[in-house]
Amino acid sequence: MSLSREQMLVEMGVAPLWVLRDQAKPQAAGVAPEAPAVAPAVAPAVAAPAIDVEPPVRAPVQAPPLATPEAPRARPVMVAGSAIAVDALDWPELKAQVAGCRACGLCEQRRQAVFGVGDQNPDWLFIGEGPGADEDVQGEPFVGQAGKLLDNMLAALDISRGNKVYIANAVKCRPPGNRTPEAAEMAACWPYLERQIALLKPKIIVLLGKAAVHAVLHDDKSLASLRGKPFEYAGIPVVVTYHPAYLLRNLPDKSKAWEDLLLARRTLRERATPELPF
Ligand code: URA
Repeated sequence: MSLSREQMLVEMGVAPLWVLRDQAKPQAAGVAPEAPAVAPAVAPAVAAPAIDVEPPVRAPVQAPPLATPEAPRARPVMVAGSAIAVDALDWPELKAQVAGCRACGLCEQRRQAVFGVGDQNPDWLFIGEGPGADEDVQGEPFVGQAGKLLDNMLAALDISRGNKVYIANAVKCRPPGNRTPEAAEMAACWPYLERQIALLKPKIIVLLGKAAVHAVLHDDKSLASLRGKPFEYAGIPVVVTYHPAYLLRNLPDKSKAWEDLLLARRTLRERATPELPF
């Protein structure tokens, strides 16, 4: 079943679709047109018309300075227990290495390692926590309920997995019982994700949930305190938002996640066309 953009926004809990009057701005090549600039948290009883509706005026948000939570850490280029330097591997070699990895205890109960999925020349890199039961069986990230929501979030941005989008996880093997991966497991898996990022060279990274934030930014503050702020990893802008599984349990926060995705898209566009006078 394919959903319209409005239906997807409803699914995300951020309907109705409001269109700004000044939409005729030049667009960066390959970047989807602007979707709703303001996403009210609560949908009114009567849906707003889709065109020519002045959205509520909102005070401009002062963007905080780019935050770099930590200086680049010493590069753990060797996976624990392996004699192979991961940062020398090309994509197929890296994939093979992950498939046979035994660097932490997660390998004991996995059916397969879940490397990642998508466009190898992406604009967007979404990073989740780790495979769940469905992903462990199918070998692809975000194929369960949380994945359906993630797909709807992507569709609301006019993007999709595999088309300028890559999806990966902080750990490649399913934590038993879908528990949160431990810090040591994320550290053992980090060289793989680090190498994936280096090879993919995404233009924007979206971290889905606390584990992804821990793995990439080494920051353990609450998501509520980190979202809405711009970060950087290796010169790539990073946006933090809630994990789709969390959003399934906390529907009101979907509107915040939508704001985060719009921040990510604005950041991507600004990077793509820094000279445009918006
Ligand atoms: N949750 C994640 O964080 N990753 C997946 O691949 C699936 C669910």
